[in-house]
Amino acid sequence: MTAVDFSEVAVARGRQHAPDNVRFVVADILDWDPEQTFDLVLIAYLQLEQDLLRNVVKRAIDWLEPYGELFMIGHDRSNLEGGYGGPQVPEILWEVPTMKGWLDGLRLIEAGVVRRPVEAPEGLLFARDALIRARR
Ligand SMILES: C[S@@+](CC[C@H](N)C(=O)[O-])C[C@H]1O[C@@H](n2cnc3c(N)ncnc32)[C@H](O)[C@@H]1O
Repeated sequence: MTAVDFSEVAVARGRQHAPDNVRFVVADILDWDPEQTFDLVLIAYLQLEQDLLRNVVKRAIDWLEPYGELFMIGHDRSNLEGGYGGPQVPEILWEVPTMKGWLDGLRLIEAGVVRRPVEAPEGLLFARDALIRARR
């Protein structure tokens, strides 16, 4: 498994929790390219402006093995009105209908908004995440 984040802090934190077979890379995903292809590419809570995110998704599709899966989960725009916490900047929140249109050459498995439980000071509340899975 290869894990990429451009934050040294995030990578250090990841290393504390991950098993030994995870290779961590400190790199900007906007210009990082792997030397191999993968069975699974996970894009998790990468909140970028739409054109930048689209570019990452386009390149991530190229990193998939045949039948490899692209799994994306991130803060959904509907969280602003109907969910708890998360970034409050609309420009970096995900929109499932738009992102479904970016899956060139992939077969959609599932796409939608899911609820994520959050233990808030007020009690158990729910955040709204965009979740998209597709297979090459
Ligand atoms: C909300 S955190 C999610 C962390 C982790 N992926 C997870 O799901 O728990 C967003 C992460 O994206 C990283 N990030 C944002 N822009 C990036 C970029 N252009 N290249 C690499 N990492 C980036 C940040 O450093 C941060 O650790």
